[in-house]
Amino acid sequence: MVGSSIAFLCASNALDDIVLLNRTKSKALGEALDISNAIPKNSDITIKGTDDYSEIRDSKIIVITASTGVYLKNRNEMIGAQVNMIKNIASEIKKNCNSSNILIISNPVDVLTYYFIKETNFPRNNVIGIASSLDSSRFRYLISKKIGVKQSQISNAYVLGEHGDSMVPIFSQTKIDGKNALKIINHAQKMEITKDLRDYWKSLRNFKSRSQFGIAKNTLDVIVSILNNNPLLSPTSILLNGEYNQENVCMGVLTTIESKGISKIHTMDLDESEKKSFDLSAQTIRENIQSV
Ligand SMILES: NC(=O)c1ccc[n+]([C@@H]2O[C@H](COP(=O)([O-])OP(=O)(O)OC[C@H]3O[C@@H](n4cnc5c(N)ncnc54)[C@H](OP(=O)(O)O)[C@@H]3O)[C@@H](O)[C@H]2O)c1
Repeated sequence: MVGSSIAFLCASNALDDIVLLNRTKSKALGEALDISNAIPKNSDITIKGTDDYSEIRDSKIIVITASTGVYLKNRNEMIGAQVNMIKNIASEIKKNCNSSNILIISNPVDVLTYYFIKETNFPRNNVIGIASSLDSSRFRYLISKKIGVKQSQISNAYVLGEHGDSMVPIFSQTKIDGKNALKIINHAQKMEITKDLRDYWKSLRNFKSRSQFGIAKNTLDVIVSILNNNPLLSPTSILLNGEYNQENVCMGVLTTIESKGISKIHTMDLDESEKKSFDLSAQTIRENIQSV
């Protein structure tokens, strides 16, 4: 669902040639046949389906959305199977590509981004976990609903840390009409927004099987910024190397993305409780990494 939604957006925006790879070849062929009809009529881009990794040789961008199943209780439920899967995919990609930007969407995204880097030794700025930008979209949406403001009135609303129960919404930097959000949002509202944010995927499951369009648009933005070398400020999961006093863990932080991948990691000013939550989130991801 997620992979084909991203491919659909890329094709309908005539971004570039696309290869859909699935272990079940017929699925990739079917999605490619359908999406090929969404290519604008003045465009010559192509889309094809395959199960053969040699077809993705030297791709500029590779988006990984594979999943061995659907989790029901939390994103770490199938962690062992997902890590095995990403290791296999990583070794296939390494055989065929050495300078691609890799966008990892599959969950648990922070853990899989970590294992992809360990398996390939690709530079950390080219292996980008995408999820915190989706969480940030949800954060903006929830603030707008709770406070009764338009989403366009909200700025600097970022979510950092794990794409999971320990994610950290950064209220201290969020602005509503240019004013510090914490002058407008009271403590009880802050707690409610945080809970609703962490449980967003569960609420969504009451109505549809799982999310697809929000993550697809957030991924498209990253793809466009890489292809067009158009700097994009976006929170993404990257291997930390001393930033925020954290090392050897992948987690969501504010980054700038350009044609060569992540060109800058921004260290945000966090208040004391956000710092504590961020460290706790790093610890949670580390434990998940070590649990495999
Ligand atoms: N980062 C985020 O914010 C975010 C948001 C939404 C979803 N997600 C994650 O995105 C992933 C995909 O979700 P989805 O709803 O699109 O799942 P889906 O519809 O089940 O698609 C997953 C696809 O992966 C294929 N696959 C499984 N193992 C593979 C392998 N080793 N190589 C190639 N293809 C393989 C499956 O094929 P078969 O039919 O052969 O099994 C299936 O077609 C999940 O991990 C989900 O949690 C992340």
